[in-house]
Amino acid sequence: MKLPWRRNISRMSGYVPGEQPCEDGFVKLNTNENPYPPSPKVKKAIAGALDASLRLYPSPAAAALRRQASLTYGIDENRIIAGNGSDDLLAMIARAFVGEGGTLACPAPTYTLYDTLVAIQGGKMLRVPYPDDYTLPKALSRNRAPVTIVANPNSPSGTSVPLAQLADLAERIPGLLVIDEAYADFADETALSLARERENVIVLRTFSKSFSLAGMRIGLGFAHPAIIDGLNKVRDSYNLNRLSILAGEAALKDAAWMERNVAMVRKTRERLAASLPEVGFVPFPSQANFILARKSGLDSARPVYEALKERKILVRYFDTPRLSNCLRITVGTDDEVGVLLDAMKRIGRIRKSPNPSVKA
Ligand SMILES: Cc1ncc(COP(=O)(O)O)c(C=O)c1O
Repeated sequence: MKLPWRRNISRMSGYVPGEQPCEDGFVKLNTNENPYPPSPKVKKAIAGALDASLRLYPSPAAAALRRQASLTYGIDENRIIAGNGSDDLLAMIARAFVGEGGTLACPAPTYTLYDTLVAIQGGKMLRVPYPDDYTLPKALSRNRAPVTIVANPNSPSGTSVPLAQLADLAERIPGLLVIDEAYADFADETALSLARERENVIVLRTFSKSFSLAGMRIGLGFAHPAIIDGLNKVRDSYNLNRLSILAGEAALKDAAWMERNVAMVRKTRERLAASLPEVGFVPFPSQANFILARKSGLDSARPVYEALKERKILVRYFDTPRLSNCLRITVGTDDEVGVLLDAMKRIGRIRKSPNPSVKA
């Protein structure tokens, strides 16, 4: 039977997330999760809510989480919206601002979910290429699209652009500027001030990375009340469940726990960056909890990705022209990074040996 799909839906392919292996035993450095557990206070908050209250719907606008976010970030509650992960907030933005034939601009390469969300809307992408050093492309400020998104720090490059340049971009473009700060807690700067000051900026945060809560699906958006009001119109009525609201609130109340974990990740990030050249990879400067590293020379990085996978080490490989000689490596614990570097050394030796089919 031929079902009446919208044309753009039949034509598009869905978003492909990084692998989540069913088996245990992988060193998992492919989806930028935090290697450290969330605050024990989160567990306590969730456990305390496993009772008859689960029969009730959650607060539609995640009141307790937004109240705590207001205290933590010093931003009024009417400037905050909560999402089922920041992906949910990105979907709301696409739904509200990108119509059939509408355009979303972004520097590229970047987070590929933006393409998928625009394809669902039947819109078009305006991808402005990053220069080789991943500085903000000048042409981006000349775009006339209703929505521009900059992931800062960017994925998959891990690089970031200065706040002053984002402020300038917000000033120049006619539309909405979305600053996707999924990795901002690992960086030196944040653009939250722009969400307070400007009427055309929304800053997105996630609890999936720095707060070690990818499994709970919690995100926050900060913007002028008029933007928040509009997004609330397209939000699912109960987009966060009762447990996620409590988990997010508890995580924010124990921000010191998150900051300790972030400090450890940043330290390991420096060690990984310093060691990658020894295994034949050149790191891009990272402000995130992962590093994009380019294989010296022009070779594809796929064989290294596959050889690592055989050894139960997962990193992310993108088979696209600009990234095919790179690996994106999540910063794990010091031990995990040690295992990775060791394996990369062995793989490098095999690939150089006259009989590369021999396993080290
Ligand atoms: C740039 C960027 N934005 C948003 C997200 C999604 O985060 P969440 O888990 O909150 O949906 C990711 C996830 O990897 C990301 O890399």
